[in-house]
Amino acid sequence: MKNVELTRVGGLKGEVFPPPDKSISHRAVMLASIAEGKSVVRNFLRAEDPISTLEAFKMLGIKIDESGSGVLVIQGEGLYGLRESTDVINCGNSGTTIRLMSGILSGNPFLSILTGDESLRQRPMERVISPLRKMGAVISGRDNDRFPPMAIKGQRLTAVNYAMPLASAQLKSCLLLAALYACGATSVTEPFKSRDHTERMLGAMGASISVDGLNITMQGGSRLHAFDLTVPSDFSSAAFFLVAALIVPNSEIIIKGVGINPTRTGLLNVMREMGACIELSNMREVSGEPVADIYCKSTKHLKAVKIEKEIIPSLIDEFPALCVLATQADGVTEIRGAEDLRVKESDRIKSMASELKKFGVHLEEYPDGIAIRGKSALKGGAVESYGDHRIAMSLSIAALISDEITTVINASCVDISFPHFFKTLRELIKNA
Ligand code: S3P
Repeated sequence: MKNVELTRVGGLKGEVFPPPDKSISHRAVMLASIAEGKSVVRNFLRAEDPISTLEAFKMLGIKIDESGSGVLVIQGEGLYGLRESTDVINCGNSGTTIRLMSGILSGNPFLSILTGDESLRQRPMERVISPLRKMGAVISGRDNDRFPPMAIKGQRLTAVNYAMPLASAQLKSCLLLAALYACGATSVTEPFKSRDHTERMLGAMGASISVDGLNITMQGGSRLHAFDLTVPSDFSSAAFFLVAALIVPNSEIIIKGVGINPTRTGLLNVMREMGACIELSNMREVSGEPVADIYCKSTKHLKAVKIEKEIIPSLIDEFPALCVLATQADGVTEIRGAEDLRVKESDRIKSMASELKKFGVHLEEYPDGIAIRGKSALKGGAVESYGDHRIAMSLSIAALISDEITTVINASCVDISFPHFFKTLRELIKNA
């Protein structure tokens, strides 16, 4: 596993083209596979996680042509056109792959076994198994249904009304996909709004779906039309550069073509509240998703903020980057109601707390979050990614304002979502 050395830089300048959106790339492959006819997915994210989804649907008999650069042509076979895989489906590191697929496969009349890498095999699956069983699914997981591998024997499902105990787009999407195979109308209610890419895509494909605040109703049996979709750039990948530009003096960057779906951009609101200099331009819509260019430059005086449970889903993946930003804001930034971060690709609260302490940051860890005291000088040294892509990228950003050389141990995990992360960073440093 590759270690990366970084050091203090004099600024970051230039245009950034972040990689395509990971959540939308997964969903595009899944929904195109069960739609009727040929779909085209442009600007697909060729990173490890969405490739796990792509390979999984190939194992289920779907023809996917990847000849164009970043363009997939997917021959959808309809809701019941998937075929039993002759082998176990390995979802790699990807929670989105395993949880969303469990919804689709619960309604398909054959046996599927889903597993993943060491990290994924420790992530909770009971949250999908329990409601899927209420819909009639025959599904089990390792260790009393807690973890992968999961075995699914697909069945005809029945509609349910389900109040989700946690705000999770993976859980919500899993149930909406299962609802396609259910007899009747399924209704799902989330406690707080999580990303809504599945709802948008299903609606655009002709599914009978309606959204009323936190409640979503889906009629079973809807046939899905094939589509031609362009994936926007990923806000969650852009976030590392937004934070970097704010905290590295003499920085000025413009991030191009980023998805700004409001269910994803909680970090922008937090940054503005902190006093950050950020401007959006060229706002438009691409394949049903709002997109913009984001201008951002270094901001000397940032102030601490309090972040509560309701907005956590809109910045769930930005927590590690936000922790780095908090080290440079005056006062104590407190993030609470974020206990689900403990069961992501790593325990992200623990990972950030332990590594930021190595940088010399004063902080307090809570079961559901963290309090970080700024503004703090950062020391640098050797820090650990825990094999978690977003931890590796966040620590790399912190290294850019550190007094000593920082070694990010096991940094190649950035390939999960952002294979060109270090190359992009080097170019911005070179331009300054
Ligand atoms: C995702 C949902 C979120 C997020 C993950 C991607 C998705 O997970 O953290 O990176 O694509 O639906 P949860 O649903 O577990 O919060």
